[in-house]
Amino acid sequence: MKLELVESFGNALSENMIIESENITALEYLQEEFSGKIDVITIDPPYNTDISHIGYRDSNFENGWSTFIKERLALAKILMSDAGSMFINIDENELVSLLEICYDLFGKENVNILVWPKIDEPFDMNRVEKPVFNIKSAHEYIVLCYMDKKNTVFSNMRNGKPMESIIKGLGTTSSAKDEIAQLLGKREMFSTPKPMRLLEEIIRISSQKDSIILDFFAGSGTTGHATMSLNKFDGGRRKFILVTNDENDICKNVTIPRIKKSIEVYNYRDGFNYYKLRSRYQCDLF
Ligand SMILES: C[S@@+](CC[C@H](N)C(=O)[O-])C[C@H]1O[C@@H](n2cnc3c(N)ncnc32)[C@H](O)[C@@H]1O
Repeated sequence: MKLELVESFGNALSENMIIESENITALEYLQEEFSGKIDVITIDPPYNTDISHIGYRDSNFENGWSTFIKERLALAKILMSDAGSMFINIDENELVSLLEICYDLFGKENVNILVWPKIDEPFDMNRVEKPVFNIKSAHEYIVLCYMDKKNTVFSNMRNGKPMESIIKGLGTTSSAKDEIAQLLGKREMFSTPKPMRLLEEIIRISSQKDSIILDFFAGSGTTGHATMSLNKFDGGRRKFILVTNDENDICKNVTIPRIKKSIEVYNYRDGFNYYKLRSRYQCDLF
């Protein structure tokens, strides 16, 4: 494997990493330095829904979706700390398969299911209504896996109350597009972003102030933006590692510009190192 530094941006002391790579290669690469060290993993993988308009491959994986996810989750689990937790976005299409995989890896007692309303009128002034076949899909799931629920130091209070299984009021798919448009000037650069406040809340409840946060399906980089925003709010020193592939040049055209812009616009006093990682097989080709 070969890790090549492409660019350093912002605060020179920053240890944040953005890695452009097939994520199985990156997860293998991260094992040596980060095994047992990552407190929060948050991912938003392809949902296997065969939607063609979204700009990245969402289905037709060589050995099936379950194998694709299982291989990655097994490697990711090795990176998790004893108090670590992993949040996985998914919709109803593969919820059952994902739960089977997570029960197998973490034990049923260490898995919870949360619901995220992906449409919500107050956030959706720019939402474009899609055709509905029978039931209008208004929510998705977040499968939450703990390394060991008893060990988890969860600061899971929200406004003085325990977190609820339905995570309302933190934005929608449409408001996430508005956030990207605010930074990059175009609303449709990426069609399935998650809202910044949702990620910020996930990180807040599951991290310490010096935790490492990993997202290996980073897409537009919401997890990085949310980590910096939370650090600014509570004085934390959390670091992020974002991994995304080069499908449609997303890393170069969306992830990197979005994180750069957010640092500048919100004055985060943070930075990142942008790497490209190639597997031994890819190195042999060059
Ligand atoms: C659903 S999107 C993530 C959206 C993200 N939560 C956001 O807020 O922008 C999934 C992303 O993972 C990337 N991806 C899919 N398969 C991948 C793989 N095997 N390795 C690395 N990235 C992958 C896709 O190109 C896409 O950008």
